[in-house]
Amino acid sequence: IGDVIGLTPALGWNSWNAFGLSVNDAKVRVAAKTIADKLSAHGWAYVNIDDGWEAPQRAATGEIVANEKFPDMKALSDYVHSLGLKFGIYSSPGPRTCGGYLGSYQHEEQDAKTYGDWGIDYLKYDWCSYGEIAPSQPSLDDYKKPYQVMRAALNKVNRDIMFSFCQYGMGDSWNWAGEVGGNSWRTTGDINDSWGSMSGIGFHQQAEAPHARPGHFNDPDMLVVGKVGWGDAQHDTKLTPDEQYTHISLWSLLASPLLIGCDLGHLDRFTLNLLTNDEVIAINQDDLGKEAVQVLKKDGYLVYVKELQDGGKAVGIFNVSDKYQTITINWSELGITGTKVRDVWRQKYLITDNKAFKTSVPSHGVVLVRVSK
Ligand code: DGJ
Repeated sequence: IGDVIGLTPALGWNSWNAFGLSVNDAKVRVAAKTIADKLSAHGWAYVNIDDGWEAPQRAATGEIVANEKFPDMKALSDYVHSLGLKFGIYSSPGPRTCGGYLGSYQHEEQDAKTYGDWGIDYLKYDWCSYGEIAPSQPSLDDYKKPYQVMRAALNKVNRDIMFSFCQYGMGDSWNWAGEVGGNSWRTTGDINDSWGSMSGIGFHQQAEAPHARPGHFNDPDMLVVGKVGWGDAQHDTKLTPDEQYTHISLWSLLASPLLIGCDLGHLDRFTLNLLTNDEVIAINQDDLGKEAVQVLKKDGYLVYVKELQDGGKAVGIFNVSDKYQTITINWSELGITGTKVRDVWRQKYLITDNKAFKTSVPSHGVVLVRVSK
């Protein structure tokens, strides 16, 4: 795989779903401190600022500068690094970001250099107003072009910077984003904290799945757990607890970047537990870097299987119906001959027979197991 970074999906936090354009230095510091204190021992590392940090004008020399909400980006970066974490930032290949702030158009090399000087470790690059630059019916080359330009600019910077494409799946980006040098690429529009949105995205990644590999992962968008929403609209996720187990299980099986989208200043115990189960995270971070395949689609339930480095398999059985179900699956239907079955959420081995697996799954919930020989 050569000289590639991001061999497993990124684990971290992004400011957008919790703060939108009201993100500021203090909020990012709270997130970073919480990650360091409560989450980093489980692998969580990236602290990523999304849209809203840029000043309205570049410096006279053309360099991008932060607005008043980020008085000293280098100092913030140093703080995040002092906690042992990594620091991410956001831009657009267009003249403006989706929030109307300055983008990197025609300043790509300059911006990449600035990011390097600030100690940036992760760049999310959001299409936004590039639509005004590209033809109205973009070709595949038009979709690739701005990402190639920034890839080349980042390559000139003496720093490992993860490159996250945000094109909402346009141009079926999973087919080519890895070759263009993306460490991850969004496959859909924005997620929200509803069962319809989360399940609509998560259970429709079949075409994308074969393209995931070490250093290059599909990104079905951020985690809508904990306190989400901006300002007065901030609220606990509308996903039920079982739907949240489904969300984290599915994103782990999909080998998706796991980017927490909540206000970490208000991290409740349920959400903390959800994000610190090492056996679940290990499925997401498995070295083989394979994305799960949907192997069974039955009336009311779906089964996903992810191949793992040790020759075992992670299996998710998702009840997408409105009713509690007892589900029996023959191992042969899954192409599995294994017999040691461990429930990873509950962290215990299950007693099963070697022909069939019988389990009870609540409505919109999941049973996630790791099967080994
Ligand atoms: C659209 C992206 O899909 C979101 O994740 C977020 O980055 C916003 N743009 C920011 O404006």
